[in-house]
Amino acid sequence: MTSDQTIQEELIKSPCDPIDGSIIRIEHVVKTFTSRNKTVTAVNDVSFTVRRGEIFGLLGPNGAGKSTLIRILTTLLRPTSGTACLDTYEITRDAEKVRTIIGVCPQNSTLDVELTAYDNLDFYGKLVNVPEDILDKRIWELLEMTELTDRAHMRVGTFSGGMRRKLEIVRAFIHHPLILFLDEPTIGLDPEARREVWQQIAVLNKEKTTIILTTHYMDEAEKLCNRIAFIDKGRLVALDTLENLKQLLPAGDLIEIGLDTRDDRVLPGIRSNQLVNSAEFKNNTLTISAKNGSRVLPAILNVFDGYSVPMNTISIHSPSLEDVFIYLTGSKLDAGNNEGAKSGTGGRPS
Ligand SMILES: Nc1ncnc2c1ncn2[C@@H]1O[C@H](COP(=O)(O)OP(=O)(O)OP(=O)(O)O)[C@@H](O)[C@H]1O
Ligand SMILES: [Mg+2]
Repeated sequence: MTSDQTIQEELIKSPCDPIDGSIIRIEHVVKTFTSRNKTVTAVNDVSFTVRRGEIFGLLGPNGAGKSTLIRILTTLLRPTSGTACLDTYEITRDAEKVRTIIGVCPQNSTLDVELTAYDNLDFYGKLVNVPEDILDKRIWELLEMTELTDRAHMRVGTFSGGMRRKLEIVRAFIHHPLILFLDEPTIGLDPEARREVWQQIAVLNKEKTTIILTTHYMDEAEKLCNRIAFIDKGRLVALDTLENLKQLLPAGDLIEIGLDTRDDRVLPGIRSNQLVNSAEFKNNTLTISAKNGSRVLPAILNVFDGYSVPMNTISIHSPSLEDVFIYLTGSKLDAGNNEGAKSGTGGRPS
């Protein structure tokens, strides 16, 4: 092959050709900031892909580099090095095209509190070129989605924090973007408002939108995200589903079985199970550390059954995302994270 042919092939072959089912492909992105002779590496050689249609979480403590990465992906910042593709567009080469397929809800609100809900949506819709003849209908659809129809013509300054955030999230969705970026969608909201925003996000995801959100609330990532990336000090520390991340802990799950009286006959049968790390009695309680508690439980119950040993209580404790984060990084996600963690009750919003 001649070198001319090679060059031509390189030109034809876009670096953003879809390779697999992914919609975002990030390759070795680095971002450094230099001020007063001091250099901060906010994003440090990060590479990963986001699948089409998933809710993807970037989880990390304050200053981890989450917002910087979002700002790079949404073309507000140029990376110092590295590249990223959103669908078939490259973030620096095709920045304008990228902007047509994304919606962004930044960490700090950009709603105009002096304008009404309707006018905020109208202004933004014109900014992102929603055709005039469908804009009004689209605005009412979004207001309905957020249950703010009867407040359409009220000033946003009179809205609660939750109402404002929901309005801002759907505003980012006004032009039906392929990808929606939500930077800390529920920061500063009370538990009830947080749950409402979660419902909103789940509804938008049902419309086949890929959602990438940043958070330092573990419960938020657990409830909403199909996959979670841990970011710490600018680096990608781990990326997987919640279940798989939890399996990274060598201690695994803890199963506690309460008995009337301790019975050591069950121990050999339980310890011989390949998924069991250890099994010890403390008084009348048997504590078992196992790689996957719910998978190993039936075999354990069989052993008890074999010796006709009655059980009083059974409980399985799964490690939290925080446990996994501490194990991987040696530091906590956020010392001030309790508010969010406490409010997390119930299952994934439907
Ligand atoms: N424009 C900038 N100039 C200089 N440093 C910056 C700039 N933007 C971000 N940084 C630094 O980059 C690092 C990452 O910041 P970033 O805002 O991305 O973190 P984050 O994970 O979003 O944190 P938080 O959870 O607090 O929002 C921090 O050390 C921050 O001070
Ligand atoms: Mg941030």
